[in-house]
Amino acid sequence: MIGRLNHIAIAVPDLAAAAALYRDTLGARVSDAIELPDHGVTTVFVELENSKIELLHPLGEGSTIAKYLERSPDGGMHHICFEVEDIVAARDQLKADGARVLGDGEPRTGAHGKPVLFLHPKDFCGTLIEIEQV
Ligand code: CO
Repeated sequence: MIGRLNHIAIAVPDLAAAAALYRDTLGARVSDAIELPDHGVTTVFVELENSKIELLHPLGEGSTIAKYLERSPDGGMHHICFEVEDIVAARDQLKADGARVLGDGEPRTGAHGKPVLFLHPKDFCGTLIEIEQV
């Protein structure tokens, strides 16, 4: 069902410092910071040859990233995103297999303007999984 790894998202307490770390220390290509108010995050995209890293920093009230950073002040991996061809078919198959889909179960528009869903970390080895239709 799942295809390519689309991105790994990392919550960071200091976005500029994290962007500099990836750009200067690791020598990766990084975007400018992009505010995504609908998602409660400011994001820097790190472009790798075979995938992307998304550095996430809380934006606005009630950001899920703020809650994450309360528990893990140094930051850490927040979720991984796999590509799927048909997100509704993937969702229905996952639910039939007993996996919990977060929210109301309807795909919403993700950070790349494509439909996404999140799957409960307790059903996936403690890892929050995002699926994105590409
Ligand atoms: Co994501």
